[in-house]
Amino acid sequence: MNIKKLQEAASNFGTPVYVYDLSIIESQYNKLQNAFKNIDNYKIHFASKSLSNISILKFIKNLGLGLDTVSIEEIKIGIKCGFSIDEILYTPNGVSFSEILEAKSLGVKINLDSFESVQDFSKRYSNHPVSIRINPGIYAGGNENISVGHSNSKFGIPEEFITDLIKMEEKKQIKITGLHIHTGSDITKNNQFDEGIKKIFSIATKFKNIESIDLGGGIKIPYFLGDTKTNLKDYARVVELEYQKYKNITGKDLKLILEPGKYLVSDSGYFITKVNYIKKSKNNFFAQVNSGFNHFIRPTLYKSYHEVINLSNLNDKKEEYTVVGYICEKDTFAKKRMISKISKDDILCFKNAGAYGFNMSSNYNSRLRPAELCIHDGKIKKIREEENLEDLLNNQIDVFD
Ligand code: LLP
Repeated sequence: MNIKKLQEAASNFGTPVYVYDLSIIESQYNKLQNAFKNIDNYKIHFASKSLSNISILKFIKNLGLGLDTVSIEEIKIGIKCGFSIDEILYTPNGVSFSEILEAKSLGVKINLDSFESVQDFSKRYSNHPVSIRINPGIYAGGNENISVGHSNSKFGIPEEFITDLIKMEEKKQIKITGLHIHTGSDITKNNQFDEGIKKIFSIATKFKNIESIDLGGGIKIPYFLGDTKTNLKDYARVVELEYQKYKNITGKDLKLILEPGKYLVSDSGYFITKVNYIKKSKNNFFAQVNSGFNHFIRPTLYKSYHEVINLSNLNDKKEEYTVVGYICEKDTFAKKRMISKISKDDILCFKNAGAYGFNMSSNYNSRLRPAELCIHDGKIKKIREEENLEDLLNNQIDVFD
């Protein structure tokens, strides 16, 4: 954590502001590559839903990654950032068939998410390669909202459709060349990954034309000292074993795909705010910052833990604070946390804000979304302007004018 640069970012560019240290994205990518070095053919696609600023995407592209997208807009942004068509995956959920057709016309690799959309696809493109997302029936993920692989979830094609899909393929109604699985985000238990990996490789042996297996994202990074994390070595070892087993059974080589979001960018991002007031109440010292869940919703939505650093007073006596925002409903960033003594106007920094931070921000309470900065080669650069009032009013229509 480059404290000096973060202090400099806050004093030169103001707050609230998101800051991303690009060197951390690069080192996370290197660690991931190192973990999977024994697999001959794999590609890492960055889940752009986690952070989609074009400067970040271009940096990631230049590192050699592909892109994982969830909407037609993310595909178009990816293309604008220079990703080639074959570097872009599209794994939508519940979108209209017309959006799937548009993605198809652009030429990206599609992971279909329902049996119903496979049927529609087969009517138009019976002989075109397509991938499918399987629902593995596994409950895994940091909380209920982000655990998406269980049998009651809306995601993926339930296993009971596999026989029908194989029949469709035999009748040449569809050509399934890839399988996809994404069980959840913030997966702490390696055995949950293992179960999914084993399942998807075993399903792959049932289809004739499989060329790739996509294991999705979900790798858990620690949010504080001593927090749980995915054991990457163990994860990669199980993948290697299953990869090899598949090869021994079928004699075929597969391309392996990973789609991490958090692992690549969470650690790289900091959300920096300023303290408006220290408000004393019966049981709390509230540090009220110049932001709210409109800018950074993870703590409110998922009760996620983000370490808070007082950039203005790093090493003073620690006192207990509840850090809250200015939104007119409960928006607690950190509850009863021991933080180096905070005063009015101090600069507070939330860690692990790179993934699903800015990208989940909104204009609730008619607040402006903040600027984004990056630290690259020792320099701080602005990569998004703070919004202004015009931006808020831009698309509104005054019918009483
Ligand atoms: N692939 C697919 C198909 C996904 O749906 C996701 C995330 C990923 C990859 C990347 O997962 P990651 O490596 O980032 O865990 N807003 C939530 C997380 C939502 C994840 C949605 N899908 C949060 O802030 O915790």
